[in-house]
Amino acid sequence: MTDRSLLMRLENVTKKFGGLIALRGVDLQITSGRVHGLLGANGAGKSTLIKIISGAYAATSGQIYWRGGAVSWSSPRDANDSGVATIHQHIPLVSTLSVLENVFLAAPGFWRQSLEMRERFDVICERVGYSLNPDALVGDLRIGARQMVAIFQALGSGADLIVMDEPTASLATEERELVYRAVRRLTQGENKAILFVSHFLDEIIALTDEVTVLRDGQAVLRAETKDLDESKIAEAIVGRRLAAMETTSQGRSLEQLKVLPELLELRELGSPGKLQPISLKLRAGEVLGIAGLLGSGRSELLHAIFGADADATGDVVLRGKTLRRSTSAAVKAGIALVPEDRMRQGLVPGFEIWRNTTLPALKGVSAAGVIPIELKERERALDAIQRLSIKAQSPDVPVMELSGGNAQKVTIAKWLYSNVDVFLLDEPTAGIDVGAKADILMLVRKLASEGKAVIVVSSEFEELIAACDRILVMRDGRCIAERSVASTSEHELILLASGHTVAQTAA
Ligand SMILES: Nc1ncnc2c1ncn2[C@@H]1O[C@H](COP(=O)(O)OP(=O)(O)OP(=O)(O)O)[C@@H](O)[C@H]1O
Ligand SMILES: [Mg+2]
Repeated sequence: MTDRSLLMRLENVTKKFGGLIALRGVDLQITSGRVHGLLGANGAGKSTLIKIISGAYAATSGQIYWRGGAVSWSSPRDANDSGVATIHQHIPLVSTLSVLENVFLAAPGFWRQSLEMRERFDVICERVGYSLNPDALVGDLRIGARQMVAIFQALGSGADLIVMDEPTASLATEERELVYRAVRRLTQGENKAILFVSHFLDEIIALTDEVTVLRDGQAVLRAETKDLDESKIAEAIVGRRLAAMETTSQGRSLEQLKVLPELLELRELGSPGKLQPISLKLRAGEVLGIAGLLGSGRSELLHAIFGADADATGDVVLRGKTLRRSTSAAVKAGIALVPEDRMRQGLVPGFEIWRNTTLPALKGVSAAGVIPIELKERERALDAIQRLSIKAQSPDVPVMELSGGNAQKVTIAKWLYSNVDVFLLDEPTAGIDVGAKADILMLVRKLASEGKAVIVVSSEFEELIAACDRILVMRDGRCIAERSVASTSEHELILLASGHTVAQTAA
């Protein structure tokens, strides 16, 4: 059938950033026609390894062989010309350009938008089994579609090795399926090699042929996927046995919730074409989960509550007061949104961790509310580093030097020290490793126990069950069911969210 040849071999690759050793003597082999899974905790060195493979960083020592010959690429261009295309963790697309322009950004004369490019674009759609409107503005696309643009871009260059750094981290289940399908077509149909980074163990098992696990910059496990299971991989990632995700919430019953004071009320909050009017009350100390698939309106609901949707109708009432419809009014009133798409909103990459964690809370650390006191800011950042187990040497590390998952933890930490009463968390564990996921869920419970109200959107219903008291299920922009955690199951939520009624399947 297909010819399985060794495309790339890494030998004893080490990478140092000053005194920090990000990779220690890593060996790796990549074969055509196969999907190679690369795993590891946040900060383990996955993205660093990928940047070396893609020519963005030079290794401090060690050797890369490409098709049998030693290479030392000095730029991503070199690697790309040799046949390596990389989709980085933070998709560097140009939001003001069209899909077509983005896909062929690197191609000479892309601005001419020749007929030939449209034809090549159609061919890529065909190959991947997904169609995109070439003329749509990338800035208008949902994150799942933007991920597909990045995949198209990698294919536009005709590479033989496609490196994907957490392509599914921010995607809903259905969007992930699109990526899997593309991956399978490319390996099985076209004999491409794929290096696939992910924190989702189930997809690693389902999608990859072989696996390498990095821990603290070392390759600690190398095996055929068929010889592994999720718990073996998890153990290699965290370096110890990991207990199954504990239910941190006892799942308070609706009766128990009634004694908590009311904090937030949505009165017929909706948005034309996106969100059917929803009314609900949220109590201080309550964790409300939103379960829903792609396009169910879950993020739209959070945006509407946060005043970020100018077309929204209805009211958001906090402690009896109707809020003006603006994000600044929401922040002022004590509502925080940690968005799904962290890099678009969120952090100032050049700033140190401490400067980022205190951005929204400058008042609290200011002398007379004016001049921030650096010492206090750094104390807070240190506290955040401990509470969220952020892997960083000190609060002075600029956020751009953090690994992706650790930077995400900073986006959450950012809000912990300001006067926030209502947290809106959109996929708070996206990109967070298996070892730290439970920490984030525990933090959610802790916030609730301090009297905050929390709304959590997650594609992982298991997590919602672990962290929430009550769960709303959304579908097609509508709230279609409400369950107390004690009275539902992951299975029921999946059925509800995907449009099956429970009665139907029971029959
Ligand atoms: N440009 C840089 N300067 C200094 N340190 C860096 C730089 N890039 C990465 N590091 C450090 O190298 C280590 C490995 O980071 P890397 O981004 O490779 O992790 P990762 O495995 O991709 O994690 P994640 O799952 O969070 O994306 C981390 O300690 C990180 O802070
Ligand atoms: Mg990374």
